[in-house]
Amino acid sequence: MQAEHGCSITGWASYLPRTVVTNQDIMTLFDTSDEWIVERTGIRQRRAADGPFVNPKPSTSPLGGLGTTAQMAVEAGKAALEMAGLTGNDIDLLVLCTTTPDQMVPATSSPLADALSIKGGGMDLNAACAGFTYGLVSSAGFIGAGAERVLLIGSETLTRITNWSDRTNAFLFGDGAGAVVVEAAPEPALLGWDIGVDGSLQPLFYADYGGPGMAMRGQEVFRKAVRVTVDSATKSLEQAKLTPADVALFVPHQANIRIMDAVAERLGLSDERVASVIERTGNTSSASIPIALTEAANHGRLQEGDIVLFAGFGAGMTWASAVWRWGAGPPR
Ligand code: UT7
Repeated sequence: MQAEHGCSITGWASYLPRTVVTNQDIMTLFDTSDEWIVERTGIRQRRAADGPFVNPKPSTSPLGGLGTTAQMAVEAGKAALEMAGLTGNDIDLLVLCTTTPDQMVPATSSPLADALSIKGGGMDLNAACAGFTYGLVSSAGFIGAGAERVLLIGSETLTRITNWSDRTNAFLFGDGAGAVVVEAAPEPALLGWDIGVDGSLQPLFYADYGGPGMAMRGQEVFRKAVRVTVDSATKSLEQAKLTPADVALFVPHQANIRIMDAVAERLGLSDERVASVIERTGNTSSASIPIALTEAANHGRLQEGDIVLFAGFGAGMTWASAVWRWGAGPPR
């Protein structure tokens, strides 16, 4: 399957909440060290949605509760629209990728659509950390079906569902949002894609209603993540009739620098071609790829015609990859 219709990313932006949670802050919670966290994950700090980070207790949010998934998404969404020279009125579809909706009902895209004055449709998409890449493929698909403009946002308040007494994973996660505007354009952008889910692996990583927060079998997730991400990226590249040598920028899900390095190495992609923000953000699930993409694009790492490889994996277990040609937008 291949989307033949043209589209382009014409705006991008990210938002990180103000509260910085360092590894030293994490060390006040349980027995760990800055060295161990940096060596095992590459993470030095992460952000937490508004509210002070004060010595959290098990099963309760350590945060003031002021920052929501929708509020962060509004900030990123507004800035991406502004960059594209558009308003909510111009958008046919809002897709909010999130694992951490603000309410069970309605979808968090509803208040978000209201705040951004979206005139078209809106929906949430939960494919865990693969969410944004699922969303990118979906956006291109909607454009293929006739939509003109899609606002695609990944926003997460993972610190609300972190088990702050679990030293095996609480240091991994952070909050933030990233957004892109995808518009119909003359040239095809989605050259290859692959999505997958293996629900038999659900016990590896989950959070239950009323439970203490996220629980994870880290080593198993690690091993599986490397395999599925490499396989998926390889399939997408083959579909696009390209090889890793054609990739100008690899934007992987930012889960652990060791996973990112292992995937890049197996694909034969050198460090200079990998977008990485994990040191400063931790794992922000659906938000991690658009945050990393925004930083790379703002640093001038993308030129028209460049091939971008997106790849993510997450709880479920889900995975997704997309080969995208960075291109010009529609004529204005
Ligand atoms: O978005 C996708 C979701 N998740 C992921 O991508 C995470 C995938 N997994 C991982 O990133 C890694 O498995 C972790 C970073 C979670 C853990 O790293 P690891 O290298 O797999 O460590 P480990 O679980 O094998 O633990 C090694 C040692 C153990 O001690 P012993 O048995 O060797 O004596 C642990 O008890 O490290 C110990 N340990 C810690 N030490 C200091 C576990 N947690 C900590 C800690 N601080 N916080």
